[in-house]
Amino acid sequence: MTSPVPGAALCQLVGVKKNYPMGDLVVQALKGVSVEVTAGEFTAFAGPSGSGKSTVLNLIGCLDRPSEGQVFLEGRDVATLSDSALGDVRARRIGFIFQSFNLIPVLTAFENVELAMKLSGASEKGQKERVEEALRSVGLADYMTRRPAQLSGGQQQRVAIARALVKQPALIIADEPTANLDSKNGAAILDLMRTMNADNGTTFLFSTHDKMVMDRARRIIRLSDGQVIDDERVEPSPTPVAAGG
Ligand SMILES: Nc1ncnc2c1ncn2[C@@H]1O[C@H](COP(=O)(O)OP(=O)(O)O)[C@@H](O)[C@H]1O
Ligand SMILES: [Mg+2]
Repeated sequence: MTSPVPGAALCQLVGVKKNYPMGDLVVQALKGVSVEVTAGEFTAFAGPSGSGKSTVLNLIGCLDRPSEGQVFLEGRDVATLSDSALGDVRARRIGFIFQSFNLIPVLTAFENVELAMKLSGASEKGQKERVEEALRSVGLADYMTRRPAQLSGGQQQRVAIARALVKQPALIIADEPTANLDSKNGAAILDLMRTMNADNGTTFLFSTHDKMVMDRARRIIRLSDGQVIDDERVEPSPTPVAAGG
């Protein structure tokens, strides 16, 4: 794929509302959110549980469609895309990292990463090397043949990062990536993501309610009750060195 152009609009939400039907009721999860994200950002969506963080990330990640308003990804209104075209965008352009890691238990670390690359439609050539490189880059060179159950939580999240990175996506979406990690491992995972952001220019959007995670973001978009209440850019800090372990 082409490298991201720094400064170009990567995604944009315009007046986005999201309603979830709940029996006879409707939950208004988003009440008119407008946000623009530029290629190369390292941005946190922050806010208490239920404020709409996952809903925003799911919309940006093309896992769901808005009830009202528009979502643009790389300049295209996603409403104009069919479900299969959306699936294609997800597979090729977006990497996902989840709080519960979501690795396939019967596959090794190598196979988990390899599967994501195959699904992205990447050319066969050099696949094995790319998988190995992705796992090396997250510090797992010696763990490629282990299954998830044979890895610590922090190591499993590193596999998930490698799986997201191997497609060389324009955007990586991480919904509370440190929620199931202790603070030391959480910090290491954030530092690793930041290094990937600095080295490859990959845009990272993540959600959190953890202050330690927010402290590492370059931009913090605060949500409350389905609305953006603050949007703060933070001075760039020196690129951290990824910790091992
Ligand atoms: N699938 C769903 N069905 C019904 N309500 C939902 C669903 N997903 C989220 N919600 C509601 O939407 C609101 C926002 O949820 P969410 O985006 O998950 O917030 P956060 O990630 O910040 O905790 C909450 O009130 C939540 O209960
Ligand atoms: Mg959530």
